[in-house]
Amino acid sequence: MTRFAGKVAVVTGGGTGIGRATCLTLANEGADIVVVSNVAAQAETVAREVASLGRTGVAKVVDVTDIEAVNALARDVDAQFGRADILVTCAGVMGARKLLTQTSAEEWRDTLEVNLNATFYCIKAFLPGMLARDVGRIITLSSASGKLPAALNGDYAASKHGVIGLTKTLALELGILEKHGVTANAICPGPIDTPMMDAITDHLAPAAKMGREDFRRVAVAKNAQRRLLDPEEVAHMVAYLASDQARGVTGQAMNVCGGLVLS
Ligand SMILES: NC(=O)c1ccc[n+]([C@@H]2O[C@H](COP(=O)([O-])OP(=O)(O)OC[C@H]3O[C@@H](n4cnc5c(N)ncnc54)[C@H](O)[C@@H]3O)[C@@H](O)[C@H]2O)c1
Repeated sequence: MTRFAGKVAVVTGGGTGIGRATCLTLANEGADIVVVSNVAAQAETVAREVASLGRTGVAKVVDVTDIEAVNALARDVDAQFGRADILVTCAGVMGARKLLTQTSAEEWRDTLEVNLNATFYCIKAFLPGMLARDVGRIITLSSASGKLPAALNGDYAASKHGVIGLTKTLALELGILEKHGVTANAICPGPIDTPMMDAITDHLAPAAKMGREDFRRVAVAKNAQRRLLDPEEVAHMVAYLASDQARGVTGQAMNVCGGLVLS
């Protein structure tokens, strides 16, 4: 399928995990990809992987919490491609993973800054071009922890609840602006087998006095399928939401979680 021939997608956090899988899935269906990461080598590797699929892959080293850098990114994309059709905000951090009573204000702010505020900065930077053409797909990465409370994960859960609120509000405002060619949706993954899950395991398994495999089994014990999903499974939801087939889907928070969240 070439659902995205002629389309330009900007993927933040594109160097690893769900972001990388998204870059390759969209490129496989014809999109040119701007791979955005705070880690140069990872962005460059994925950009080369995109090129090996026959599409243009451009690596951009940007810290998404730097508003000026995000605005410059949008200007660069416009200068090189003339537009961004698809924005996927995958950049994220796992947060402090502590009780709220032990989470410092600085840790709280750091998590909210990357996961929520930077999502807003990216939307602000890329939305004007989409509005001008009334063409666009904004896809944000929330989490099952955007729908469920998460003990020992309060900063992360708050940030991901915020991403859903931001995305649904944007969808409503696109309606008010009568920009029906632009949609905004969030995706809520459950536990996915990515570097973030590795980092969570490394961080929490020793404290829980568990081996890696036991910890990962417990991490999926509450989902119906009792398994970690692959990042590609999330990327396929991104691709659907980015496609013309999903032009009537907006303001949704789509679960890709193996049956962890059943509403
Ligand atoms: N893995 C999971 O189980 C899971 C579950 C639910 C939601 N998510 C969300 O999915 C998204 C992707 O996560 P992932 O699992 O692929 O993890 P990941 O750690 O592989 O990807 C996160 C990416 O964000 C990048 N990043 C972090 N801070 C950045 C910054 N300031 N500027 C630019 N880039 C930055 C990292 O370099 C990394 O490539 C995240 O928002 C995460 O919260 C993941």
